[in-house]
Amino acid sequence: MTYIPNSIQARDMASVVHMQTNLRKHQTEGPLVITRGEGCRVWDDTGREHLEAIAGLWCASLGFGSERLARVAYEQMRTLGYYHLYRHNSNEPAIALAEKLLAIAPVPMARVLFQCSGSEANDTAIKLAWYYWHARGQPQRSKIVGREFAYHGNTCAAVSLSGKPDMHAGFGLPFANFKHTEFPHYYRRHEEGETEEQFSTRMAAALESLIEREAPDTIAAFFAEPVMGAGGAILPPGGYFQKVQEVLRKHDILFVADEVICGFARTGNMWGSETFGIVPDMLTSAKALSAAMQPISAVMVNERVHEAMLAQSDRYGNFAHGFTYAGHPVAAAVALEVQRIYDEMDIVGRARRLGSLLQTALGAFREHPLVGDVRGVGLIFGMELMRDKTRRVPFDPALSVGARAAAAAQRHGLIVRVVGDRLVFAPPLVIEPADIEEIALRLRRGLDQLADELTREGALAGAGAGKVAGD
Ligand SMILES: Cc1ncc(COP(=O)(O)O)c(C=O)c1O
Repeated sequence: MTYIPNSIQARDMASVVHMQTNLRKHQTEGPLVITRGEGCRVWDDTGREHLEAIAGLWCASLGFGSERLARVAYEQMRTLGYYHLYRHNSNEPAIALAEKLLAIAPVPMARVLFQCSGSEANDTAIKLAWYYWHARGQPQRSKIVGREFAYHGNTCAAVSLSGKPDMHAGFGLPFANFKHTEFPHYYRRHEEGETEEQFSTRMAAALESLIEREAPDTIAAFFAEPVMGAGGAILPPGGYFQKVQEVLRKHDILFVADEVICGFARTGNMWGSETFGIVPDMLTSAKALSAAMQPISAVMVNERVHEAMLAQSDRYGNFAHGFTYAGHPVAAAVALEVQRIYDEMDIVGRARRLGSLLQTALGAFREHPLVGDVRGVGLIFGMELMRDKTRRVPFDPALSVGARAAAAAQRHGLIVRVVGDRLVFAPPLVIEPADIEEIALRLRRGLDQLADELTREGALAGAGAGKVAGD
């Protein structure tokens, strides 16, 4: 693409470094510049409308603009635009938000720590796991276990915890004491005839053998997202978290639930932990905490972790951790108002109702020649594209079928997320039934076009490739 000098695209290309972007390609292709948003729709600088089926980065739960939240931020800035939580200081919005989070926590929690992002929340939880074991007289418990293809953020520790080799390459990461257990992707990885329960038993056994290999008394904590978001919206197979938690309890390993995506009704309950019977020692949240209108995240800790923090304060005279903007009053006031909106609109009931409509709309794509599997819960769905769905044969990665599918959808005005050959959907929770119909329509146009292309290229198993067993 050639852009006019001084166009918004040319200015971007000359000044901004973009995350998760091929920087060389960006120098020629340039950005899509989004200039405004409303509900589930955003508009680019040419005036073109895009239907957003992934809420930005799974976060814009109330859509892309809000007069009500703008007023709250404005009023808070006029009253108190900044104050911190260091050295016994506090501010009202942070206190009220902490109270609200403790009131809605999925299991009893003792206290809340604030940060500005999901990465910082997970980094904080990692430090707290270490702090906990130091307080308990077991400082050798320094290893943190995550899962292959999980995503927990991009600060040094959070990305080490993430099981994404593409995010480690070239950075000399992960740090040595971060270990990764198997990817519980039932559809792709189950053996012929293996049930979800049997697969979960195998995954829990793999976790236990990792723990035993490393020595249980060297492991501090296990982190998991209830539904793996950036891994491709992967739902835990039946019985998975029950079996995993048995292993963790046996070896006295802390469980941290990363609810950065799943928190605040995404899975059809306020927390993914409720949906899947998780009893975490710590819980991290961000994104929909403030409907993405302000950068704020929270870590909740249970009584045993909090007791250890108190003991460490006694020992060292100080809880020596913190961020300048932790509990920022403007971010906290906006997040608090977001929680009021969630209560008013019965966000959990809404996610269930609209989730079942989305389930029907996307479920219909199981008949599509490109689609092997569609699975979701609440308002988060993953759709697996397969070369041969009958025999579960994936496409050659060199064909970049997932990326081409997302590009085809975008040509028809639909923004979806792509992870390998999985399309991922997590629309704003304010989505309306008509938006869901429109998502299905635009998606079908994009996938039909791509199926024609792949058929011409001879890359798709013949028409009538059959349905996946169990459809
Ligand atoms: C599950 C999960 N944890 C943590 C993060 C990191 O959050 P942030 O980008 O706010 O640092 C993300 C971001 O997508 C996420 O999906």
